[in-house]
Amino acid sequence: MKGGLAVSFQRRRSVINLLKSRRSIRIFKPVSIPDYIVRLLVEAGSRAPTYYQMYTFIWVKSLEKKEKLAELCRGEIVKNASIVLLACGDLRRISRMLDMLGHKHILSTDKHPVETIMSIFDTALAVENIIIAAESLGLGSVILDCPLLYAPAIAQLFQLPRGVVPLVLVCIGVRGESPPLRPRLALNLILHEDTYKEPSEEELKNFISLLEKHMELENYVRKYTGSDAKYIDYIKAKTEATKEVEKENEALTKYLRENLFRI
Ligand SMILES: Cc1cc2nc3c(=O)[nH]c(=O)nc-3n(C[C@H](O)[C@H](O)[C@H](O)COP(=O)(O)O)c2cc1C
Repeated sequence: MKGGLAVSFQRRRSVINLLKSRRSIRIFKPVSIPDYIVRLLVEAGSRAPTYYQMYTFIWVKSLEKKEKLAELCRGEIVKNASIVLLACGDLRRISRMLDMLGHKHILSTDKHPVETIMSIFDTALAVENIIIAAESLGLGSVILDCPLLYAPAIAQLFQLPRGVVPLVLVCIGVRGESPPLRPRLALNLILHEDTYKEPSEEELKNFISLLEKHMELENYVRKYTGSDAKYIDYIKAKTEATKEVEKENEALTKYLRENLFRI
């Protein structure tokens, strides 16, 4: 019994080592990867815990589509990744199946926050499985959020029907860089015992400063965007609530509602 535990613990530790050394890869060697690997990865993705498998992956294979996608999203990453998967939250399939059961179901109503959030959750868990499966084969990956930002254009490009919302791109390929591990919040800030514990101002400031130092040392902004901006200014620009962003968010909220994503 003791021996058996030790063996399984060792095996688990190798998965943990893989998880602990994962980092996003944004520079890929343009190498082709056989189709069966993509199927293997998505199959591994589908084994993630799931609510109702409320996701669909569009495998971006055509060069023409990849180029159009690259115009909207991070060009070089999308162009050089060997595998590009558009991860979509899919409330359409489940809604059609519930229609078949003939009752007044929740997805035909004005608000269904649980299904909406769980669809995003389902998709995220499947994406994470795919990423870890790719790591286990020695491949690198990055998630890109641009599909959601340009949802109507992306939906048109991939002929997504109503109820299928593009969320993220999963770009996978042969690593063309070995970046350092990026900082994470200390465990005591994300793991609280029994009750929520508000982090102190000092703890938050310390993390911001750690992140800033790390990203400057890594030359993160310059490497990935070509800009000379300081990391903090880059983050501020990305999160600034401008009038334009507010308008874009209005349009996105409307798009999401029209596509059954209703909170
Ligand atoms: C939902 C989501 C969206 C992301 N979108 C982008 C993106 O648009 N561009 C990008 O370069 N990285 C993106 N990332 C990757 C994160 O920037 C990255 O995971 C984070 O900086 C931590 O770095 P690490 O993965 O190397 O530890 C995204 C990650 C997640 C989970």
